[in-house]
Amino acid sequence: MPRGPPASPGQSRPKSGKPCHSDPAEEDRGWRARHYPAMLRRLTRAATPRQRVFWARRSGSLAGVPTYVVDLRSDTVTKPGPAMRRAMAEAVVGDDDYGEDPTVRELQATAAELLGVERTLFVPTNTMANLISVMCHCRRRGSQLLLGHECHLHVYEQGGVAQIAGVHSHPLPDLPHGTLDLAELERLVTRGLGSPYHPVCELICLENTHSSSGGRVLPMEYLRQVHLLAQRYGVRVHLDGARLMNAAVALGVPPACIVEHCDSVSLCFSKGLGAPVGALVGGPKDFIEEAWRLRKALGGGMRQAGVLAAAALVGLADAEEMLQRDHQNAQRFARGLQELASPVCSVDPTAVETNMVMVRVDGLPPEELCRRLQAVSADEDTELALGKWAFVLRTLRTG
Ligand SMILES: Cc1ncc(COP(=O)(O)O)c(C=O)c1O
Repeated sequence: MPRGPPASPGQSRPKSGKPCHSDPAEEDRGWRARHYPAMLRRLTRAATPRQRVFWARRSGSLAGVPTYVVDLRSDTVTKPGPAMRRAMAEAVVGDDDYGEDPTVRELQATAAELLGVERTLFVPTNTMANLISVMCHCRRRGSQLLLGHECHLHVYEQGGVAQIAGVHSHPLPDLPHGTLDLAELERLVTRGLGSPYHPVCELICLENTHSSSGGRVLPMEYLRQVHLLAQRYGVRVHLDGARLMNAAVALGVPPACIVEHCDSVSLCFSKGLGAPVGALVGGPKDFIEEAWRLRKALGGGMRQAGVLAAAALVGLADAEEMLQRDHQNAQRFARGLQELASPVCSVDPTAVETNMVMVRVDGLPPEELCRRLQAVSADEDTELALGKWAFVLRTLRTG
């Protein structure tokens, strides 16, 4: 796509992509004054990071003002900023497979304190952290795991718990907040008790924040109730906390207050925390000793991993400030979209609790909307990207 504002209907644009006027800067200013609602300008300013750039890419300048492309697909598309890259370059390292990497050890100790667990173990991905946790808890083949129908572990991790661990997953319907019905959970936990026919339930997995419901935060009381229920029947609770820090920041509580309702936890560094790679498993000492063995068996043992742990430490140190900003930006984006009052796209800002915005698309296939929005390429800037939303939605309304 050419840089510069999209040509309005009836206005031609030369093949060079430049507007048909002698002064492109003046043309940009004029176009923006005519076409940009004030709300979009505010959104643009809100979406433009001022100091640290983990998630936006400088793409050039409009009328001398630096502009950025913001990739809103996922919090995994972040790129390490200068401080993170420096920390990686300067990390003191050793062979972590011998337990000799000081930066990995520092990360594991720091995270254990933050999460209020005895030990943590650094692993390459959150998928591996979840799989290791399930394998540690479910020691016999065919043991049962209860989890939400749409949770990441069930839908997006290739059924690794069945494929690799021989664990039988039983999904329950997710309620709108990402919770499970407690009565149904109890029915399933108890169904196999003393039965030679049913699988034996050993584990419940929860996800916080809950991605498929739009980054919703599980209520603390719900977590407490699930844990009490599990304890009553000798079942354990694992928390997929890929975005645990988002939940903690949204609730305004230390992450340990959430983790205290679980027997193990995973946490991912390569999502909102902005690191390029890495996750961890947290739990009691003997659990983590077993997790270490399983990480090795799964091929996840690493050597001079301090280079990666250093990035994770920076992500953790900055988490509160960065995630608060992300959550505010998600709120502003949702409210801005709502103000557009499009019959095609609707959003419920009250459902935006963390860093995700779920947009409902009516009247045309979502693929069609994506196709039209695709015209916002890496060569265009944030302001144009937001302008494009308005432009596409206006066209769809009238056309
Ligand atoms: C909730 C949740 N759990 C686990 C994962 C897996 O993380 P990874 O990509 O590090 O394996 C993801 C990835 O998006 C996720 O959203």
